[in-house]
Amino acid sequence: MASQLSNQQLSAIAQQFGTPTYVYNADKIIEQYQTLTTAFTQQNVRIFYACKALTNINILKLIKNIGGNVDCSSINEVKLALHAGFEPSRVLYTSNGITFNEIEEAQSLGIHINIDSLSNLEKFGKKYGHSYPVGIRLRPNIMAGGNLKISTGHDKSKFGIPVDQIDEVLKVVADNNIFIKNLHIHTGSEIKDVAVFVKGIEVLFDIIPLFKELEVIDLGGGFKVPYKQDDAETDINLLAQEVGKAFENHPNPNGKPLQVWFEPGKYLVSEAGYLITEVSVLKTTKTTTFASVNSGFNHLIRPMFYDAYHKITNISNPEGEEQVYTVTGNICETDTFATDRTLNEISEGDLLVFANAGAYGFEMSSNFNSRYKPAEVLVKEGEFHLIRRRDTFEDLLRNQLEVL
Ligand code: LLP
Repeated sequence: MASQLSNQQLSAIAQQFGTPTYVYNADKIIEQYQTLTTAFTQQNVRIFYACKALTNINILKLIKNIGGNVDCSSINEVKLALHAGFEPSRVLYTSNGITFNEIEEAQSLGIHINIDSLSNLEKFGKKYGHSYPVGIRLRPNIMAGGNLKISTGHDKSKFGIPVDQIDEVLKVVADNNIFIKNLHIHTGSEIKDVAVFVKGIEVLFDIIPLFKELEVIDLGGGFKVPYKQDDAETDINLLAQEVGKAFENHPNPNGKPLQVWFEPGKYLVSEAGYLITEVSVLKTTKTTTFASVNSGFNHLIRPMFYDAYHKITNISNPEGEEQVYTVTGNICETDTFATDRTLNEISEGDLLVFANAGAYGFEMSSNFNSRYKPAEVLVKEGEFHLIRRRDTFEDLLRNQLEVL
């Protein structure tokens, strides 16, 4: 399977669809999904794609067609998943910070729900009692992840009900006779170290005996993928071994075997994605040569927001002499993609391609500076499919009501 798109393919896409354009390689998504499912074949594991990473309806359908499930972080993601054809039993909603109304709506759709506050758990219990099995999102108080902004399980994090408040959880559950089916934790994003997942399981082992009807342990997502050359990634086979071992040593005291759920986002789609941009202008100053592309943090915010590294390739001149550039966008803010990056010699009009752009790329894009969001293209079985048109001027006015 072609796990990487070639420069020729990317150039042809730029020629056919223009720039800036996000491109997704279906083969790579399938390959990542198969690596996961193969590693866990011996175990009772279900994979829920954390679709906040990339919700294009075609990506959702692709995941559905290869047998995956989907994890959602808003009711609209749930509706998109249902629109893509997932049966409700394959849809999970891991909520945070939402009103009870949204939980009621999710319940009415018959999907799996993880509740992340005592307040909503109590409302849920009062309304549904034992009739609708539900999950709770716990905060394990573990610090892990690539950057503080994407570390979600630590003891100051807003996410989940802190494990140290388990007595309060138990009281709400008992008072309302709630059917707790699932215990969920998500510690953070870009967790390379398998030991972090094992630590999370150990935190849960203390709590499992307290929930007699438990069926599922949901360990969230957060597997690390390589962004830089030689970057370490989460060793999925080791993870499978360690998870297997942990559960062998701690069989469910309540008798029922526990199913394990994971919610990978980046692992499934990050490396499959590319953002093709074009160099609008070069500017050489006493200290720096700026290469400004027809993009910015309105299209790919990760470098500015998380100090994330994205590999950049000048596919128009791959053999060119290496020089040092600072790559920026065209937004009226400091939208630096890379400072002092060594790249093959750039001319105005060259195509610069950002790698690892599949996860949280298009999905976090905006119309800032009234620029258009990029087009999206899916490469499947060698064919290029436009899966989202680039915005047009009408899109900028859509929803605005001209009252003057
Ligand atoms: N499950 C839950 C409950 C989550 O909150 C997240 C991510 C995931 C699964 C998937 O995590 P992943 O496998 O993609 O690491 N925009 C940031 C990442 C934010 C992640 C938020 N939650 C970035 O671009 O790095």
